[in-house]
Amino acid sequence: TPPFILSPSLLSSDFARLADELAALEAAGLSWVHLDVMDGQFVPNITFGPPLIAAMRKTSRLYFDTHLMIERPERYLAEFRAAGSDLICVHAEATVHLERAVAEIARLGAAPAVALNPATPLSAVEWLLPQLDMVLIMTVNPGFGGQSFIPFCLDKIRALSALRRERGLSFRIQVDGGVTPDNTAALLAAGADVLVSGSAFFGHPPYKERLDVFHAAAVS
Ligand code: DX5
Ligand code: ZN
Repeated sequence: TPPFILSPSLLSSDFARLADELAALEAAGLSWVHLDVMDGQFVPNITFGPPLIAAMRKTSRLYFDTHLMIERPERYLAEFRAAGSDLICVHAEATVHLERAVAEIARLGAAPAVALNPATPLSAVEWLLPQLDMVLIMTVNPGFGGQSFIPFCLDKIRALSALRRERGLSFRIQVDGGVTPDNTAALLAAGADVLVSGSAFFGHPPYKERLDVFHAAAVS
């Protein structure tokens, strides 16, 4: 199995102890953290925004993998970058000017990524692939942690991986929603490089041991 990155979704962490949670992730050997930003419009839930990310930035050197589940994300890209986001991922469904948003993220010096909801076809992002550092394949409908993986999304990951190979591109493929040690091997075999895990990670401390469980699942 190829090497992969585990990006724990902070949504499932203890929000009252964020600095401790970030420190614990670093101590456990993780290098990424997945930040789920929700606006109560694009998804039926509200989480946090740039001020909280800026506060976390002061205490952490982790790679801030920022998943924007907000309508018209172009309004806030500069703010998220200034707050310390390293990667900024916008949903294809959330803006009619996706190319402009992606170009703006790159111009701001962050890594550009696009997310697709389960029902959104790969064609929504096809023409932008050369401009992207990462494509996020949602494997649940975004909005909440702890939902079940939608099985047909595995074929979508395979199709995107094939497209990447055909085109000779090197963007990462991230998978988010219902990821567990049980489906880790299948996701990696399908072509995923970055696995997001919320409830299946934070619900099972200590984090170093849990990371080991994911790594063991990858090779089995
Ligand atoms: C869902 C979020 C995910 C979520 C994943 O809207 O984008 O990042 O936190 O949580 P789990 O791993 O519990 O499905
Ligand atoms: Zn997410």
